[in-house]
Amino acid sequence: MITYRLALIPGDGIGVDVTDAAMAVLNVAARRYGFTLETESFPWSCDYYLKTGAMMPEDGIETLRGFDAIYLGAVGWPDTVPDAVSLHGLLLPIRKAFDQYANIRPHRLLAGVEGPLKTSAFDILCIRENTEGEYSGAGGRVHQGKDNEVAVETSVFTRIGVERILRFGFEQAKARRGHLTSVTKSNAQKYSMVFWDEVTRELAAEYPEVTVSHMHIDAMAAKMVMAPQDLDVVVASNLFGDILTDLGAAIQGGLGFAASANICPDRSAPSMFEPVHGSAPDIAGQNIANPIAAIWSGSQMLDHLGEGEAAAAILRAIEEATAKGIGTRPGQNSTEEITKTICAALEV
Ligand code: NAI
Ligand code: MG
Repeated sequence: MITYRLALIPGDGIGVDVTDAAMAVLNVAARRYGFTLETESFPWSCDYYLKTGAMMPEDGIETLRGFDAIYLGAVGWPDTVPDAVSLHGLLLPIRKAFDQYANIRPHRLLAGVEGPLKTSAFDILCIRENTEGEYSGAGGRVHQGKDNEVAVETSVFTRIGVERILRFGFEQAKARRGHLTSVTKSNAQKYSMVFWDEVTRELAAEYPEVTVSHMHIDAMAAKMVMAPQDLDVVVASNLFGDILTDLGAAIQGGLGFAASANICPDRSAPSMFEPVHGSAPDIAGQNIANPIAAIWSGSQMLDHLGEGEAAAAILRAIEEATAKGIGTRPGQNSTEEITKTICAALEV
């Protein structure tokens, strides 16, 4: 029997609850589909920071490197640790060290879930560049606090970075409905985004079976509200993808449903799976967090590990629960109740 070694980082707040929920479901799937999940849990979190002065130990990255995948709940506890510290001390270093350049977020309305839009028939796969672009970190400030103060923040787009994320998008489109939408702002940003468009066209020649649309980010925001059913795979830079995937979470019913995978496509390092939502201090410890986003992220993890059948079965089980109205409205069902319903659907 195949054994997969998973590093679990439950983190803070509801991150702990939803990690337990996801693992309960994944273990049922493992039993049914004949593989084993061997987990090691790491207490890296804001509590850990308060005790040790760091979000993870110095050899944290090296420790994680040996695992087949990383599952993360959520990190952040702004009352005691500034968000910039918790984010830059754990999540971002992992994404960077393991070159998890493709951030994949599925946006689909599950059966029984009511989103804010009139249409329910959309199935979008957003792919966000996760390592460079507008979040390159290149920049600086001078004359702070003075009238002549200057702040500069530079976007960095490399051929390697742009080509690999677009190629990843083309491959996904090929495996899905054959349509790719590349999101830029090349009318206003005449260097980086024009470059992005050029690379898109170069690659399009290699993928004759994929049809390509070029959209500007502003028009794209409107399209995701007005006609999301026309979209299949969407590829965007770091900033644009960040914004669009929050919009995607909103149209699929909210953060309780938004799953995400940080993928290192060449598999030279582990990929990381986590719900889009944060630690939700306002509902932490109340057993009312919706675990569906976390469980869906777990399904993405199994798919990445090569257990596609188990991954699909988990999605079917989630949808069986939501079709019955379980987990579709905030606070209506406990975290535990939703998890048990999904586990039961998976058992039969
Ligand atoms: P958040 O996602 O934690 O919460 C936003 C709102 O959505 C809250 O009202 C919360 O109760 C609700 N919510 C979120 N997930 C839910 C779920 N599964 N079920 C039901 N309701 C849910 O974002 P917020 O409040 O901005 O950030 C809280 C902390 O989380 C901060 O420290 C922030 O830095 C961190 N954070 C961490 C992320 C990560 O680990 N990847 C991502 C986003 C935020
Ligand atoms: Mg965001």
